[in-house]
Amino acid sequence: MDLSALKRDARERLKGYCRVCPVCDGRACAGEVPGMGGIGTGSSFIANLDALANYRLNMRTIHEIRTVDTSIALWGMKLSIPVLAAPVTGTPYNMGGRMTEDEFLEAIMEGSLQAGTTGMTGDAADPALWISAMKAIATSGSRGIAIIKPRGQKEIISRIRDAEKAGAAAVGMDIDGAGLITMSLKGQPVSPKTLQEIRELVSATRLPFVLKGVMTPDEAGLAAEAGVAAIVVSNHGGRVLDHTPGTAGVLPEIAKEVKGRLIILADGGVRAGCDVLKFLALGADAVLIGRPLVTGAFGGGREGVTLLFNKIKDELIQAMLLTGTADVKRVEEEILFNSGAGPYSK
Ligand SMILES: Cc1cc2nc3c(=O)[nH]c(=O)nc-3n(C[C@H](O)[C@H](O)[C@H](O)COP(=O)(O)O)c2cc1C
Repeated sequence: MDLSALKRDARERLKGYCRVCPVCDGRACAGEVPGMGGIGTGSSFIANLDALANYRLNMRTIHEIRTVDTSIALWGMKLSIPVLAAPVTGTPYNMGGRMTEDEFLEAIMEGSLQAGTTGMTGDAADPALWISAMKAIATSGSRGIAIIKPRGQKEIISRIRDAEKAGAAAVGMDIDGAGLITMSLKGQPVSPKTLQEIRELVSATRLPFVLKGVMTPDEAGLAAEAGVAAIVVSNHGGRVLDHTPGTAGVLPEIAKEVKGRLIILADGGVRAGCDVLKFLALGADAVLIGRPLVTGAFGGGREGVTLLFNKIKDELIQAMLLTGTADVKRVEEEILFNSGAGPYSK
């Protein structure tokens, strides 16, 4: 299977929901939520790509690095690359349903495992989708990370127990789903959380707790105070609030606040190995990929997902050699040409 065949097949199977554009940047699908786009004008999705594109890499080739280390350790797992599958839910209404949720999540989790990494699963109004997520974590053997919507506390804790039983490596909450009116309309209310409520969730489990959807340094500080193991700097791929900044723009100030106190994950617009390296230079410990893996799964099942991860790995290795970066665990900010240029940079 090659990339162009994969994209051609994905375009066919995602017809009416995703155009599989040459660059997945949120322009053609602006406003398509449900669907694969960004909410409203699509500006938050587009800002993710723009924020990354604002940074350039310094090329350095006079050095002694011959091989590079792309691996990281995360909660007892050794990952071959600092890249995980993001939680993406809802094949019936976001992707057209030509794969079932079970088939899709199996492709994502097993494809991730085959590439030496792992993935997250999500949560939505339809309880059947949660059952699919738990099945994917339990059967894939990749352990996986279960992300739960900011429901009532009791509901979240009951889902944490499901994830523990399924063998998840970590659990978490996409707190940026707090405004999803669609969930409330379907009798599944969600809401923002207080610091005390987050603390309660953290201490309800022995598993590491991930808070996904942090976009400001003050809330990153609160997450650290609540004892969360990791944050995901994310605007939910631009799907929950129009007119947010791009995540690569806000990451440096967030990293200044909490680097070393918790694990920093980031997502939004990762399309190639260079994007991974930029996020690491801006302060992330690892990144997540969303939409491109939907293309991978619909175009080539688990092999398609693995192919995309492997492509990113090859690009990352090349970018590391050409910026003089030996190890993904020690990426210097100085590899960025304009590290001090953005409004949120140091
Ligand atoms: C169709 C779709 C469904 C998503 N579902 C979830 C979800 O259930 N839970 C969640 O935390 N994030 C969800 N996300 C957001 C992703 O986890 C991720 O933050 C985002 O897609 C990253 O941006 P990228 O797609 O540009 O890589 C979803 C994204 C898409 C496109």
